[in-house]
Amino acid sequence: MRVFTLLCALCFVLKEAQAWGYKDGIFHNSIWLEQAAGVYHRESRKGRYQLTYKEAKAVCKYEGGALATYDQLEAARQIGFHVCAAGWFDRGRVGYPIVKAGTNCGFGRIGIIDYGYRLNKSEKWDVYCYNPNSKECGGVLTDQQRIIQSPGFPEEYQDEQICYWHIRVRLGQRIRLHFREFDVEDDMGCLADYLEVYDSYDDVSGFAGRFCGDDLPEDIISTGNVMTLKFLSDASVTAGGFQLQYTAAEGSLFSQNYTHYLH
Ligand SMILES: *[C@@H]1O[C@H](CO)[C@@H](O)[C@H](O)[C@H]1NC(C)=O
Repeated sequence: MRVFTLLCALCFVLKEAQAWGYKDGIFHNSIWLEQAAGVYHRESRKGRYQLTYKEAKAVCKYEGGALATYDQLEAARQIGFHVCAAGWFDRGRVGYPIVKAGTNCGFGRIGIIDYGYRLNKSEKWDVYCYNPNSKECGGVLTDQQRIIQSPGFPEEYQDEQICYWHIRVRLGQRIRLHFREFDVEDDMGCLADYLEVYDSYDDVSGFAGRFCGDDLPEDIISTGNVMTLKFLSDASVTAGGFQLQYTAAEGSLFSQNYTHYLH
């Protein structure tokens, strides 16, 4: 149900503004904000419309999913999935789902805006993936305070997980992450399993740290009202996982007591 509520908040935002860009201080180019019925929209780390068909397939597969079919995209659209960006879906088709008619997007029509099967698979678009398991971890968090933990915590986490948590609190607030438990497969450089923290609404900019092993990381405080956490585990060896709590507070309330400020 929470996903649905978020989507309707998104519909409103999309109606209010152009699909992407700054709105209320939040940069809307997120990777997993738009998600329904196992379908989600993804763009390249390089930005919008940068994926060939082959790369688009690889993006979905990397995360354990596949390209969405037309029917899956339509099923998601019917529960409010609205994205103003054309992406590849199954069998080399390109289009995007529109719930609310607008002049800036979808030519005033609703439904799947269908660019058809592309003959040229080197064209570059975004992508629509389908992964019914993707909702098991991650999400968009807007509460003032929440616990975030690895999937299944305190049991060991599973292999081949990828989770994104986007934290978004009120404009003018900052976010403090406080780690309670931390045990993630240790290796030099944290290449196997890791938790990454970004002082940003996506995992492209604002890199603030990559963590593995069993040392409890210090508190981390954002510079703005958004943060992104990414947890990735590879195909072997798992560990106990992690648990942390985030708390939002007015920027001015954060004192010098906290140890790790971002700049
Ligand atoms: C296919 O698309 C790519 C990328 O837009 C373009 O560079 C290329 O010229 C196109 N090929 C053909 C045969 O139209």
